[in-house]
Amino acid sequence: MDRTVHHGLEGVLAGESAICEVDHEIGGLRYYGYEIEDLAEHCSFEEVAYLLLMGALPNPDELFEFKEALVASRPVSQKTIDFLCQVSPSVKRMDVLRTAVSMLGMDESDHEANGHAANLSKAIRLTAQMPALLAALLDLPLDENVRTDPSLSHAAYLLTALTGVRPEPFAVKVINVSLILYAEHEFNASTFAARVTASSLSDLHSAITSAIGTLKGPLHGGANEAVMEMLLKIEAHGDVKQYLEERLARRKRIMGFGHRVLRKGDPRSNIIKAYAKKLGEQTGDERWYKVSTALEALMQHEKGLYPNLDFYSASAYYLLGLPIPIYTPLFVCSRITGWAAHIIEQHDHNRLIRPRCAYTGPKARAFVSLEERA
Ligand SMILES: CC(C)(COP(=O)(O)OP(=O)(O)OC[C@H]1O[C@@H](n2cnc3c(N)ncnc32)[C@H](O)[C@@H]1OP(=O)(O)O)[C@@H](O)C(=O)NCCC(=O)NCCS
Repeated sequence: MDRTVHHGLEGVLAGESAICEVDHEIGGLRYYGYEIEDLAEHCSFEEVAYLLLMGALPNPDELFEFKEALVASRPVSQKTIDFLCQVSPSVKRMDVLRTAVSMLGMDESDHEANGHAANLSKAIRLTAQMPALLAALLDLPLDENVRTDPSLSHAAYLLTALTGVRPEPFAVKVINVSLILYAEHEFNASTFAARVTASSLSDLHSAITSAIGTLKGPLHGGANEAVMEMLLKIEAHGDVKQYLEERLARRKRIMGFGHRVLRKGDPRSNIIKAYAKKLGEQTGDERWYKVSTALEALMQHEKGLYPNLDFYSASAYYLLGLPIPIYTPLFVCSRITGWAAHIIEQHDHNRLIRPRCAYTGPKARAFVSLEERA
């Protein structure tokens, strides 16, 4: 047995997957072979969700049917909504969302079924249910006319649910792009957690509950909320360079920078950056773009680190008027599709994921009874 320990599993190929290719050399990203730039520019989130779940882009009839299935699957059981609304607002929204998704699993008639068709219909349902969950996380009532409106794309439905107003087309475009960019990223920590759970032949909702718990951390999905908190502090501080130097001197991490795999830059960051810039111009509030680009230049110079997807997503969400505690749940709303694709792939070709560790504890020693230890 190879005794080499790869801390944090860095550089380890922990399995096979056909879903997403991360090209760390050129900083490229493809879903089933399609470049992320093309998908973000030309597709609706529904097309990309279909691609991830089915392995191919839909033709117009297939897309029509898929959208119909999503609209029909939007309702969430009243007991889940009641639970969401009664939890104290001081509880972290990701904790509430994790528990709500776990509850939704119990509503599934085929809860324990891990077959391809059962997993697919659970994945579609959960994807469609997310906007209603997010609205409830913010204690916002969801109008029945909005929930049942088939003319609202998934992005438009989500934004309407979170703001209570019919959004501008550009705002919908930003959310659509954000949903596409966040949808999938091969064996990242939360997806790996989902696959580990699925590999014991546990069900899709259990695997996604594991994934949400993993995504919550600030080194992973929690970073987008941490970025906006940091930008607000920098704005209050007034001096980007000094703020950065002080933090780096205390060996603190700068949120939204660095990536385990994409060491030469994250292609998704460039895409969302352009939208953050345009939102700043449109709203006349260019503070966040200015601070962000200044920080980006300084981080490259000081640490050789590039922004990841979370960095410019934060100010884009802020300019759309979205409350900070909903940023990581928005990531969930999108990544549900990638997680589900991986759970389906895992169940379809399952082998229990059970690695070994290099033992570092004491050598074998003689047992001492409780009386002798007195
Ligand atoms: C994403 C992340 C966890 C990857 O970490 P990793 O691959 O384990 O890299 P390491 O933690 O080994 O970091 C390597 C070095 O870069 C530094 N570094 C990495 N990211 C940094 C950041 N955001 N700010 C400051 N320093 C950073 C580390 O301090 C370390 O320096 P050292 O060797 O002098 O101690 C890390 O870059 C990070 O914490 N980023 C901020 C959180 C974030 O944005 N998360 C979202 C990821 S998509």
